[in-house]
Amino acid sequence: MRHEQLIGDSMPEDRVDNTDKHLLDEHSDVSKPHSGKIRKCVENLSQNPGAEIVRYGRRKANILSLGQGEGDAATPDFILKGAQKAMDDGRTFYGPVLGQDPLRQEISNYYDRIYDLRVPTNRVFVTSSGTTAMHLALTAILDAGDEVVAVTPIWKNLLGAIELAQAKFKEVALDNNEGAWSLDLDKLFDACNKDTRAILITTPSNPTGWVMSREEIKAVMEFARERDIWVIADEVYSRLVYGNSHAPSFLEFAQDDDRLFTVNSFSKAWAMTGWRLGWLTGPSRVEDAVRDIALYDNMGPPTFTQYGGIEALRHGEDFIAQQMQLWERNRARVQEFFESTGRIDATESEATFYSFFKIDGEDNCLEFAKRLIDDVSLSLAPGCAFGKVGQGYMRLCYAVSEARLDDALDRLDRALKS
Ligand SMILES: Cc1ncc(COP(=O)(O)O)c(C=O)c1O
Repeated sequence: MRHEQLIGDSMPEDRVDNTDKHLLDEHSDVSKPHSGKIRKCVENLSQNPGAEIVRYGRRKANILSLGQGEGDAATPDFILKGAQKAMDDGRTFYGPVLGQDPLRQEISNYYDRIYDLRVPTNRVFVTSSGTTAMHLALTAILDAGDEVVAVTPIWKNLLGAIELAQAKFKEVALDNNEGAWSLDLDKLFDACNKDTRAILITTPSNPTGWVMSREEIKAVMEFARERDIWVIADEVYSRLVYGNSHAPSFLEFAQDDDRLFTVNSFSKAWAMTGWRLGWLTGPSRVEDAVRDIALYDNMGPPTFTQYGGIEALRHGEDFIAQQMQLWERNRARVQEFFESTGRIDATESEATFYSFFKIDGEDNCLEFAKRLIDDVSLSLAPGCAFGKVGQGYMRLCYAVSEARLDDALDRLDRALKS
C-alpha cells in the first residue's frame, strides 16, 4: 500500500481515470446544463493527469513510485518528541485559529535567523498545510471571474485551487533554452490585464527546480505594486537549494503592507508531509480576514503538531543539511544516467528534489507514464500534470535512498530499451 501514499504530490483524490472517463466527458463540456448536484466549478475542474496516473498505478502491486512529492525519510525524532510532549501535556484542545503563539513567534524568529528579515507575528498565519495556506490566500482575494496569472509548469493543485475559487488562471510558461529554465518578465507582465487579481509564482519551482533571481523578484514586486496586483509566492521549497542555504524570498523585496502572500510548509524540508502543517505570510491588515476565513474553513491547525513544528524550526538545520547532501548525490546520479542514455534531455535542477526531463521519441507523457507502470512497474509523474508547457516531460523525485533510486533508474533503462 506504500505506493498509494507516495504517488503524486499529496494528491488525495484521483478524480480522473479511465474507469471514470465517462464522468469527465459528461462534465467537462461547459455548454451542457448544470446538473445542480454540486457546484459548477467543481463539476468543471480541469483534468488532473497526475491523479490519473495515481489511479492507474493502483491496478498493480509492487509499484515503485518516484512520482511522489516527498522524501522517503521519516520525520526526525526531535520533531516527533515535540509533538509527543505536547500531547502528554494535554495540548489536545482547540487552539487559536491562526496558530499557537509560540509557533508564530518561532516562524518570525526563523525569518530573522535564516533570511535576516523582520516579519512580525501579526503577519504570520499558521495553517494546516501549505495547501491550506494557498486556499486561504486565494479565498481572501479572489472574486468569481477574477484572473490569476500563473508561472508554469506548476503543481496542478495550485491551479485547481484557483478553479475552486471560481476564478480563472492564465499560464505564462518558463522558457527552456540551452539547458536552462528562465522567466521572460515581459511575457509575464504582458499577460496581466485589468482582470488580473494576482500573479502566482512557485520559487523554487516544482517541477523544474528553477529558482527566481533577486532581480526578477524585485521587478515583479515593483510591477505588482504599481498595478495593485497581488503576488502569491509559493516558497515551499525555499530551503532545498543546492549550494545555498535558501532561495531568495519575495519577503526580501516587499514592504510590510505590500499585496504579498507567501505560502510555506513543513512538509518538504523537515520530512513532515503527513503532519499537514504550513504557514502563510501576508500584510498585517489581512490578519483578521484570514482569521475569519480559517475559522469558517477549518478552525485552525491541529494543536499538538505545532509543537513538532517549533522543534523543526529550532533544531532542524542539521537535518536539512544531511538531506540536501543525499539529494545532491542523487541528483548527480540521475543526471549521469540521463546522459548515458543519449535520449534524455534534462536541465539539472538548481533546487528541490525533482528532475524534469524529456525523452527523445516519447512525446505523449501520459501514455509513457502508463507504459512505465505496465511494463516495469515504475510510477513517475507525467509533465502534462504541471500545465500545458509540461506536455512531453516526466518528473522524477529523487528524494529516496540510493538503492531505491538505482532500482528506479534500472527500470527506466529497461523501459527505454524495450
Ligand atoms: C509547490 C507546492 N506547493 C505546495 C505544496 C503543498 O504542501 P503541503 O504538503 O504543505 O500541503 C506542494 C506539495 O507538493 C508543492 O509542490
